[in-house]
Amino acid sequence: MDNTKPIGVFDSGLGGLTVYKEMKKLMPSENFVYFGDTGRVPYGNRSNETISKYALQDEKFLLSHDVKLIVAACGTVSSLCVEEKSVFGIPFFNMIAPAVNMALELSKNGKIGITGTAATIRNGAHKKMLQDKGCVDIYETACPLFVPLVEEGLFDKDDPVVSGIIARYLQPIKDAGCDTVILGCTHYPVLSGAINDFFEGKVQLVNPGVALARAVKDYLNGCGGGNMGGGKTEFFVSDRPDCFVKQAGILLGEEAPCDITQIDIEKQV
Ligand code: DGL
Repeated sequence: MDNTKPIGVFDSGLGGLTVYKEMKKLMPSENFVYFGDTGRVPYGNRSNETISKYALQDEKFLLSHDVKLIVAACGTVSSLCVEEKSVFGIPFFNMIAPAVNMALELSKNGKIGITGTAATIRNGAHKKMLQDKGCVDIYETACPLFVPLVEEGLFDKDDPVVSGIIARYLQPIKDAGCDTVILGCTHYPVLSGAINDFFEGKVQLVNPGVALARAVKDYLNGCGGGNMGGGKTEFFVSDRPDCFVKQAGILLGEEAPCDITQIDIEKQV
């Protein structure tokens, strides 16, 4: 593998920035190409056929930028594409295995909660992998309102709208006595403070971005080390670069990138 090539990252939109942020932290010298499919977001309430079609086009776009590996920085896409090679034959990382492994490492009582979009929960990839590894006490909840909450900038734990929606979705996981919860969607780590507050700090929250960044770094180290130069990122979106810039700061928790290029993703047939 040519280590000087960039890492390709894609998501249905902005959310993948939480994953990108963790990779950038761990591998600051790597070059990245980030594609956010902002023209077709959300993926989380679509059919598997549509999500697969979109993911394939997203991957093709990244391949046209000669990336060395592809990261599906989207919980929804990951729940459908759990294999470790992209259909195009290059290494492919998704958010399922790293999150599952981290949850199993953290959990003491073996009761694990899984959250995600409707499609992620419907596909059950986390649950299946946990069961394959011997975990039986699993509690799943789709939290469809979390994404719009975050995109509206609503994540303060003292905001009654935020705490009310969190309680509505996560009470069953709390009642079940889970000691570990997988935040199976890109946006949910932004709500970590409020979710942690709801669980009174008694639950370990798994941020798949952190786990995935470690997995990518380990892989690159195993291939003879990562790229030791550059550290540049090119950002692409399929609609409204101005909106991306406006909201990116929320997901990144820092100043948003301002150089964003709009592309026509439908051309990647
Ligand atoms: N990025 C998506 C995920 O992690 C959330 C937004 C969407 O539904 O597309 O599942």
